[in-house]
Amino acid sequence: MDYFNYKNNQLFCEEVALSDLAEKYGTPAYVYSKKTLVRHLSAYSNSFEKLNNMICFSVKSLGNIAILNLLNSQGAGFDIVSGGELFRALKAGADPKKIIFSGVGKSSVEVAAGIKAGILSFNIESISEYERIKKIANEMQVSAPISIRFNPDIHAGGHDYISTGRKEDKFGIDSEEQVLELAQKINEDEYLIFKGLACHIGSQILSLDGFEKAAIKTLKLCDNLNNNGINVTLVDLGGGLGVPYKEEEPPSPKELIQTIEKVFIGRNEQIILEPGRSISANSGVLVTKIEYLKNKFIIADAAMNDLLRPALYQAHHSVMPVIKNKEASDMEYDLVGPICETGDYLAKNIKINAEEGDLLAVKTAGAYGFVMSSNYNARPRAPEILVDGSNHYLIRRRETLEDLIDLEEIPIA
Ligand code: LLP
Repeated sequence: MDYFNYKNNQLFCEEVALSDLAEKYGTPAYVYSKKTLVRHLSAYSNSFEKLNNMICFSVKSLGNIAILNLLNSQGAGFDIVSGGELFRALKAGADPKKIIFSGVGKSSVEVAAGIKAGILSFNIESISEYERIKKIANEMQVSAPISIRFNPDIHAGGHDYISTGRKEDKFGIDSEEQVLELAQKINEDEYLIFKGLACHIGSQILSLDGFEKAAIKTLKLCDNLNNNGINVTLVDLGGGLGVPYKEEEPPSPKELIQTIEKVFIGRNEQIILEPGRSISANSGVLVTKIEYLKNKFIIADAAMNDLLRPALYQAHHSVMPVIKNKEASDMEYDLVGPICETGDYLAKNIKINAEEGDLLAVKTAGAYGFVMSSNYNARPRAPEILVDGSNHYLIRRRETLEDLIDLEEIPIA
């Protein structure tokens, strides 16, 4: 469900015509709907009935500080994976006590920044990481809260690259004995506070099975820890719920939460979820203009540097004309960008009646869209615009050519 709809054949984001935004800000441009973001977040926060919970939006899916500020104002916490995301979340006004620091390779600087900020929990993934945090917390003489991410050996999720919960993946600790041993060490340390368990099994997951299995395994591990005198107060079940890019029918946040509540019924642990895509994907489109038509190719002004998902994962994104004033077409096009790579495409085999100069909206681009964009081929990154009813705000300006070289220097011989 989103708020991108046609009115008199014109595609609108809420009450604003995308063609007006394209005229004002140029193309390519990312456009986000506030209503969609708020609706998706509340689909999570309103669905818990029985358990103490917190929804930590996964910053990696859409990190603009205006969006984080919006979600923060709606009560979200944040799941971060780097010092950069910590900086973003804090700049957006986040309460550090609602920040979870995930990720397999936190640097010492990032650990120190997280401790200094007073975050809710570091989700750690190895003994070495425990040792690093222990050392830094001891040096700083400040307590560090820690949860252990375990690897439940569950295969769920879409593309191989985004499956994270299998034994062979790099994430989490896969031995129950090691989790127990580590939890004991954390519990005994002067500066470490043991919080609980975390697991995240993948992304773009379309069935509840994996989530249920992960919840059951987590619960068992909680019991095991409790029986060994280690108090678990926090259980982070990660993110991963899929969205419809094509005709997929993913479970709703409500269904996911009902599944979790069934497993954890009667328990006191705080349940944390880290949704990214299921909040942000449908909230955004990438608006692009057709530069040229050439044989079966629509050559647009957006490219793989703007939206990498099709080139990287062969991901499908639907494409809609911004103004729908033409007959349906039988012509099948590939929508490609100006980048000098054959892999540079945004969509394949789309049936659309296209003319040079037309505007197109690439849908479901709010998650892992702008955040994965780059300057490849020296292309300035697109602006980001947030629509709120009939208002719109430029929340990141288009990069300039000067921005491209701003950090560079020619050495003086
Ligand atoms: N928590 C952790 C620990 C994660 O690693 C991720 C995503 C999330 C939460 C949020 O997952 P979500 O609810 O968004 O599925 N670039 C890929 C997706 C990579 C996901 C990585 N981890 C894509 O464009 O499909």
